[in-house]
Amino acid sequence: MDSVALGKTGLTPSVMGLGCGGHSRLGLSHGKSEAEAIEIVVEAVELGINFFDTAETYGTEEIVGIGLQGVKRDSVIISTKAGVHWNDRRCTGPELHDRVEASLKRLKTDYIDVFHLHGVMFEDYAYAREELVPALLQLKEAGKTRFLGITEAFAPDPGHRTLSQAVQDDCWEVMMVGFNILNQSARQRVLPFTKEKGIGTLCMFAVRRALSNDDALREVIDLLLDQQLISDVDPDNPLEFLIAKDVAYSLQDAAYRFCRWEPGMDIVLSGSGNLQHLRANFESLRRPPLPAEITERLTAIFSGVDTITGN
Ligand SMILES: NC(=O)c1ccc[n+]([C@@H]2O[C@H](COP(=O)([O-])OP(=O)(O)OC[C@H]3O[C@@H](n4cnc5c(N)ncnc54)[C@H](OP(=O)(O)O)[C@@H]3O)[C@@H](O)[C@H]2O)c1
Repeated sequence: MDSVALGKTGLTPSVMGLGCGGHSRLGLSHGKSEAEAIEIVVEAVELGINFFDTAETYGTEEIVGIGLQGVKRDSVIISTKAGVHWNDRRCTGPELHDRVEASLKRLKTDYIDVFHLHGVMFEDYAYAREELVPALLQLKEAGKTRFLGITEAFAPDPGHRTLSQAVQDDCWEVMMVGFNILNQSARQRVLPFTKEKGIGTLCMFAVRRALSNDDALREVIDLLLDQQLISDVDPDNPLEFLIAKDVAYSLQDAAYRFCRWEPGMDIVLSGSGNLQHLRANFESLRRPPLPAEITERLTAIFSGVDTITGN
């Protein structure tokens, strides 16, 4: 699998990162056991994936810690997060220190490579910048974390209000941004700025629900047609042109490759609790870009969409 430079961090992760959250949470949300979730992490390492994204709220930090136990610490990159809100109110700087210590314990490690503020809402951004960034800088200084990250709450913020603000500050070294075939608005609103500043980028929502479930896809397409945000799409069979010889093997294959080859996107996160999906997605992220005319067609169809995420 290709390695990429994660912005200016000096880290060179695999282009595919294992997403340990999302709707699947390594399968835990679909009734899989902890042992099966650990197996996903171990298999990812065996495939050559070395970037693992988890969070305090996913309930998978311990699983990542166990799955990576037999691996040399500096051969993998661990990314985790904590939200601005905690115990029904905004968290303070000292509390953030405690939460990072708790993550370190669950992950069975003494440092976190990328520590993000998780799903930051626009209304909380100024507070995060003033109260929590100083705490993050102290944690970095103390060697508990290596790089500062921020992730947007894509579902309520599909037009990237938070990250559009965050790219104007100089503290962030990594950003996690929602981007997929259906909502490509990060191309104009986030990626030019992350590229200019050398901020590493992690793509979330490449597939999510709408691109892994035909009914969910039809629902989203109907909504976009109703709102006249798209045209030139067959509502019953909206993306059928992707599954053809010399294009893609499946909708998920197309969706991951679309994100993989987006200029300015460093890592594509893929979340799964299913070993077959994990291996298929790994293969997709090693394949070449979709044919240029297909990428152009997808860009033309969805260029006006910034209100849905495919969640
Ligand atoms: N605000 C934030 O910070 C935030 C928000 C969302 C996500 N994230 C991070 O980003 C990661 C990626 O997001 P995600 O997990 O939602 O992403 P995703 O990779 O776009 O979608 C994963 C979903 O698609 C299904 N899937 C995956 N591969 C498939 C395949 N080949 N065929 C059919 N279905 C497939 C998975 O179910 P199966 O288990 O059945 O494979 C899962 O439900 C998360 O895991 C998390 O680490 C962060």
